[in-house]
Amino acid sequence: MIIQRVVLNSRPGKNGVPVAENFRMEAASLPDKITDGQVQARTLYLSVDPYMRCRMNEDTGSDYLLPWQLSEVADGGGIGVVEESKHANFAKGDIVTSFNWPWQTKVILDGRLLQKLDPQLVDGHLSYFLGAAGITGLTSFLGIKEKGHVTQGANQTMVVSGAAGACGSLAGQIGRLEGCSRVVGICGTDEKCSILVSEMGFDAAINYKKGNVAEQLHELCPAGVDVYFDNVGGDISDAVINQMNQNSHIILCGQISQYNKDVPYPPPLPPAVEEIQKARNITRERFLVLNYMDKHEASILQLCQWIKEGKLKVKETVVKGLENIGVQMFVPLLEYGFKIICLNKVKMSLQER
Ligand SMILES: NC(=O)c1ccc[n+]([C@@H]2O[C@H](COP(=O)([O-])OP(=O)(O)OC[C@H]3O[C@@H](n4cnc5c(N)ncnc54)[C@H](OP(=O)(O)O)[C@@H]3O)[C@@H](O)[C@H]2O)c1
Repeated sequence: MIIQRVVLNSRPGKNGVPVAENFRMEAASLPDKITDGQVQARTLYLSVDPYMRCRMNEDTGSDYLLPWQLSEVADGGGIGVVEESKHANFAKGDIVTSFNWPWQTKVILDGRLLQKLDPQLVDGHLSYFLGAAGITGLTSFLGIKEKGHVTQGANQTMVVSGAAGACGSLAGQIGRLEGCSRVVGICGTDEKCSILVSEMGFDAAINYKKGNVAEQLHELCPAGVDVYFDNVGGDISDAVINQMNQNSHIILCGQISQYNKDVPYPPPLPPAVEEIQKARNITRERFLVLNYMDKHEASILQLCQWIKEGKLKVKETVVKGLENIGVQMFVPLLEYGFKIICLNKVKMSLQER
C-alpha cells in the first residue's frame, strides 16, 4: 500500500531558525498485511508543537525527547480511525491516539502504543483531544494544580506569557476557574490581546511587541503578581519576575523564546533577576506534564466537563493537508508563534471526519 509521509530533510542547526526545506514530503509503502498485536489506522489529525523544534536537533537537550532522524518520518501527537485491528483492545472504527504518531496518511502501529478515545467526551470534536482535552489542556491544568499554589478566595493575580498560544489561552481561563481574582495575558498582537479579553475572560492583555512590558505590568497588576504561568522565558519573564510578590510561584511550563538557541533547559535567569527570585522566595520548579500520568485521566474528564459547560473556551486552527505540516504551520509557528488568529493548538487535518 502506498502512503504519503513527511520526513526530516535537514536540520536547522541548534541556533538556526527552521525553514520549509527542513521537511520533505514523499511516497512510501506500508505492508499490505498487519501482524498480531498491530493496528492499521487512517490519520485524522496531527499536532504541531513547540517542543518539536528540539527534536529537529541531533541532540534534543532532553532525556525524554528523541531526535528526529534525517530522511526518516517525523512523529508527534496524532489521532486516527482504526481500519483493521489484530489487537484485542481495538476494533475497526475506533478512534485512537498516540504521542508518537508518524506524520503519514496511514499508519501501522503496535496496539500497545495506542489509546482508545471516547468521542462523546468532546461531543465529536476529535481535534480537541490534541488540544484542550489532550496534552495541552493537561499541561495548563496540571501546571496550575501542581506548581501554581492557586487558592480560591486568596485574591491572587496570575500573569500568563504566550497567552494566546495553546497552553496559555487555557492556562488563563483555568487560573480563573481555580480561583485567581485577576488574570493578565502577554502576547504578540493587538488582535490576540483583544480576543483574550473579550472571549477568554482575561482581565487585561499586553502586546509585548508594543510599549514597555514592565510599565504595563505595573499598571495592570497593582497588587503585584502571585502566579506566573511562563511559556516563553527571556526578557518577558524577567519583566514579570520583577513584579512578583514575596512567596509567589512561577509555573515553568516552557521557554519558547529560547528554543532557537543553544542554551540549557531551563535557561538560567540573569543574575539580577535570580537575586530577586531568591530574595522574594519565588518558586521556579521544572514542570513536565508527562511526570503526572496518574492524574491524566481524571484531569481530562474535568477539562471535558468545563468545555461542555462552556466554562473553558477553545479556539483552534486546523490546516488541511499533510504537505502543509512543515511548510505552512510548523516553521512559522516556531519562528513567530501564530501568524493568524489562533488561540489554541495548531493541527493538521488529513481527512474530513
Ligand atoms: N512543561 C510541559 O510539560 C509542556 C507541555 C506542553 C507544552 N509546553 C511548553 O509550553 C509552551 C507553550 O506551548 P504551546 O503548545 O501553547 O505553544 P503555541 O501554541 O505555539 O503558543 C506559543 C505562543 O508563544 C508565543 N511566542 C512564540 N515565540 C515567542 C517569543 N520569542 N517570545 C514571546 N512569545 C513567543 C506565540 O505567540 P505571540 O508571540 O504572537 O504571542 C505563540 O502563540 C512551549 O514553551 C512548550 O514547549 C510544556
